[in-house]
Amino acid sequence: MKEKIFFACTECGHKETRWLGRCPECGTWNSLEEIKSKKNQKDNSVSEDDKIPIPLTAVDMEEETRFDSGIDELNRVLGGGIMKGSTVLVGGEPGIGKSTLMLQLAAKIKTKGRILYVTGEESLRQVKMRAERLQAGRATIEVFCETNLSAIIRAIDTIKPVLVIIDSIQMIYSSDIGSIPGTPTQVKLCTYELNDYVKSRSAGLFLIGHVTKEGIIAGPKVVEHLVDTVLYFDQAESDIRILRATKNRFGPTHELGLFQMTGTGLAQVKDPGSLFLEHRDGTIPPGVVIAPVFEGTRVLMVEIQSLVVPAKGGISRVFSDKIDSRRVSRLAAVLEKHLKIPFFDADIYVNVAGGLKVAEVGIDLAICISLYSAKTDLTLPPLTAVFGEVSLAGEIRPVSHIDRRCKAALDMGYEHIYGPTIKEGGSVNLTDITDNYKEYFALQDVIRGVFAGDNANKT
Ligand code: TYD
Ligand code: MG
Repeated sequence: MKEKIFFACTECGHKETRWLGRCPECGTWNSLEEIKSKKNQKDNSVSEDDKIPIPLTAVDMEEETRFDSGIDELNRVLGGGIMKGSTVLVGGEPGIGKSTLMLQLAAKIKTKGRILYVTGEESLRQVKMRAERLQAGRATIEVFCETNLSAIIRAIDTIKPVLVIIDSIQMIYSSDIGSIPGTPTQVKLCTYELNDYVKSRSAGLFLIGHVTKEGIIAGPKVVEHLVDTVLYFDQAESDIRILRATKNRFGPTHELGLFQMTGTGLAQVKDPGSLFLEHRDGTIPPGVVIAPVFEGTRVLMVEIQSLVVPAKGGISRVFSDKIDSRRVSRLAAVLEKHLKIPFFDADIYVNVAGGLKVAEVGIDLAICISLYSAKTDLTLPPLTAVFGEVSLAGEIRPVSHIDRRCKAALDMGYEHIYGPTIKEGGSVNLTDITDNYKEYFALQDVIRGVFAGDNANKT
C-alpha cells in the first residue's frame, strides 16, 4: 500500500502535503516535520489476515459482541447492550442527568476492563463528589480532566479502556483546527477521530452532547451521521426521565428507557404500567380518557386530556405538544364528518398526563373519545380504557398486540375495554379477557357504546 506522507507544524499542528520552510498558519520557520498519516499508521497495525474478505459463514460469532451495561433500561434502548466498537451519542438539555447516567454506566458496566471518563466541564473533585453521591466508586474508572483531543487520544492509547466517556463532545478541541471548542468543525472532527480510535480497539464510546436552545454552540445534531447510535434524554414529569434512541445501527429505535431522578442518582422504573396515570377517585372529568399504548415492547397506560372551547378570533386552532397536532386536527375532522360534532369554531387543547409524548397509532380512538367527551361534557364511566386506530372513513382499525393491551389494562384494574374487531384466526389470544373486551368497527358505534355503558358487542 502506498504510504501517505504529510508535514505538520510542530508549533501549531497545521498540516501541509509538501514541505515548506515556513508554516503558512503560524509563521514559524523550519517547524514542518514529516509524518505518516494516522490512517496508515493504524492500517499498518492491522494484520494482513484482517484485510482480505472472508466467507460470511466463516465469521466467528462466538466472541461476545456486546457489553452488558449493567443498567437494564439502557440495554433495552440500545437493543441489548453496548455494541463493541460502537459510538453512542447521548444528547439532552443541561441538567437532565446525562453525566449522572454516564457515571452510573461506568460504575455498573459488566467488564473487567478499564474505563476512561473524560470530563471537560467539571473538575475532578466535582466528578468525585457525584460518584460518592451515586456510590459509583470503582477502581477501574479513570477520570481525566482534559479538553485537548491529542491528549485524550494519548490517554486512550496508554490505558486501553474498554469504555470511553466524553463529557462533553462540545468541550473537546483539536489543535489542528484552532483552539475554540464547540464549533461545528471541531465537534465533527473530534467525533470522527475518537470514533476511529475506539473502533479499531473494539471499545465502546459514549459522547455527551448538550442540546442548547441558542445556536452558538454546535448541537449534537451535527454529528448524528458520524455515530452508530443516537440517544436523547428527555424529561417527562418533574423527576421522570425518558431515554429514546432516534438512530440505532444495532437495534430498534422505538424502545423507551424510563428512569426516575432520585437523591442517589437515576433509578430504573421497573414497573412503568401506571407511571403516567393520574390517580383519581370517583367520577372522571369530561375530556379524560385512558388508553393502553404500546411503546417498544411495553404497554403503558396513559391519560389523554382534552379541552374544547370557543375559538378566540374565530379561527379554530389546535394546541397539542405531546401528540402531533396534525393528528388531533385529522381526528377532529373525522368526528365532525361522521358524528356531526362541530369543531370548526373551537380551540382544541390536548395533553397527555405525565408528559409522555405519544406517536403510536393506537392512541387515535382515545383522542376521538376524549374530544367528544370534552365537546359534549359527557363523562366516561369509571374503569374504562380504549384503543384503536381511526381511519378517515370513521372505522376503527386493528392495532398490534390487542391481547397485551387488554391484559395490561385488566392488570391495572380497568373493567371496560373498547377496541377494534379481532380477525378470526388471527394471532390474538383473548380467552381470559373476552368478557371485558368490546369490539367495534365504526367510530359512531363505539362512541355510542362507551357513553351509553352499552355492553353489547357491536360489529
Ligand atoms: P447531571 O447529570 O449533572 O445533568 P447533565 O449532565 O445532563 O447536565 O444532573 C443534573 C441534575 O440532577 C442536577 O440538577 C442535580 C440532579 N441530581 C439528583 O437529583 N440526584 C443525583 O444523585 C445527582 C447526581 C444529580
Ligand atoms: Mg453534565
